[in-house]
Amino acid sequence: MAAANWSPDSWRSKPIVQVPDYPDAKALADAEARLATFPPLVFAGEARDLKKTLAQVCDGHGFLLQGGDCAESFLEHRADNIRDFFRVFLQMAVVLTYAGGSPVVKVGRIAGQFAKPRSSPNEKRGDVELPSYRGDIINGPEFTPDSRIPDPQRQIEAYRQSAATLNLIRAFATGGYADLERVHQWNMGFVKDSPQGHRYQELADRITETMGFMRACGITSENTPQLRATSFYTSHEALLLGYEEALTRRDSTSGDWYATSGHMLWIGDRTRQPDHAHVEYFRGIKNPIGLKCGPTLEPDGLLKLIETLDPKNEPGRLTLICRFGHDKVEKHLPKLIRAVEKAGRKVVWSCDPMHGNTISAATGFKTRPFDRILKEVEAFFDVHRAEGTHAGGIHVEMTGQNVTECTGGATAISEAELQDRYHTHCDPRLNADQAIELAFLVAERMKQERLSRTAAEPVQAAE
Ligand code: TRP
Ligand code: MN
Repeated sequence: MAAANWSPDSWRSKPIVQVPDYPDAKALADAEARLATFPPLVFAGEARDLKKTLAQVCDGHGFLLQGGDCAESFLEHRADNIRDFFRVFLQMAVVLTYAGGSPVVKVGRIAGQFAKPRSSPNEKRGDVELPSYRGDIINGPEFTPDSRIPDPQRQIEAYRQSAATLNLIRAFATGGYADLERVHQWNMGFVKDSPQGHRYQELADRITETMGFMRACGITSENTPQLRATSFYTSHEALLLGYEEALTRRDSTSGDWYATSGHMLWIGDRTRQPDHAHVEYFRGIKNPIGLKCGPTLEPDGLLKLIETLDPKNEPGRLTLICRFGHDKVEKHLPKLIRAVEKAGRKVVWSCDPMHGNTISAATGFKTRPFDRILKEVEAFFDVHRAEGTHAGGIHVEMTGQNVTECTGGATAISEAELQDRYHTHCDPRLNADQAIELAFLVAERMKQERLSRTAAEPVQAAE
């Protein structure tokens, strides 16, 4: 059943921020009407499956790994980039599964992550002021008047790219690329010779040994789909509501409304005003959703949003993605956890250690010191341990390319080296080496959480 007084376009009568200024309203309406005739990118049943797995994470079983580009780019849309991302993502997932000893829910920031909220509607360079770049689904990154004009045709191209990306990833996930027999092949190219690549190699050796043992026992990836395939889901920030509305469809089996542009969508920290358009849109879709929680979110405000977005307290519906900054977790997270626990609300707690740790390097590059990213994750686990709640996931900006965008890590990228391979269209991302290093740290903390929980459970007397 649809939420009360809700329809896919009911957001249009609410106040809204972060909307592009399309010069041609008719062209925009035409593009949206065309999108509305296109097939859905994902199927409602898949979104329901994801919600079910996230419900288990709510109960302390499993861990959410969510990651990908800050902003996908039309120009970077190539098979090798998609493959390289997926490969590192699988490496992270297998580290968390094996070393962390827990099932991992795999959700990419991919196949739709094209729209970006901006702190200022305009960008000034020297004497020239132009509209800000808002992501490839809206306008172009080049600093020219033409490229910065919002163009509705870009929504059609974003849909096409999302479909092609998703198609390739589905093939990888189920067609043999993600087979656990291939753990060593995921460690190829520049990753193989990196410090974390060596560490990964040792873990892959152990998995291969285990697989050999199971093969001898008759369990192989040919006869056991769990070893050969994996479930991979897509997600993005649903910022451009006209695009989302056009892809919102009624599921014929349940009659419910689903966003079909991706499996999971999230609300950004800048668009979570409780009476505004984005919250209005999200309350009516049945997908699992995320809510970004920054330092300005107070417990009362959070509880109000939870009431609106998840009135039935449905486990798996809501993931709270916390992004405070490495030195602010202690101050903000405990009060939110306590309020949610006291209200008996079921949520997944996830940690975004990227967005609260962005700084400007002396050289002018926007960067994120890797040690602060690790510190935010550590603080997140510490607080959950103290509160007795489950640290349920991480949300990271990462790429399979060998970029130099975040400083530090095992290869110790310096501020001076940022210019070497700084390719992001938006925020600085972890490179493959840093992503794997982070996965090992998280795996270690997951293991500790599990051991402390088992120790607290009463020991069963032997028969
Ligand atoms: N199917 C299991 C899972 O997705 C095991 C698995 C297969 C896996 N391929 C994988 C785990 C790749 C991590 C990475 O968890
Ligand atoms: Mn970002």
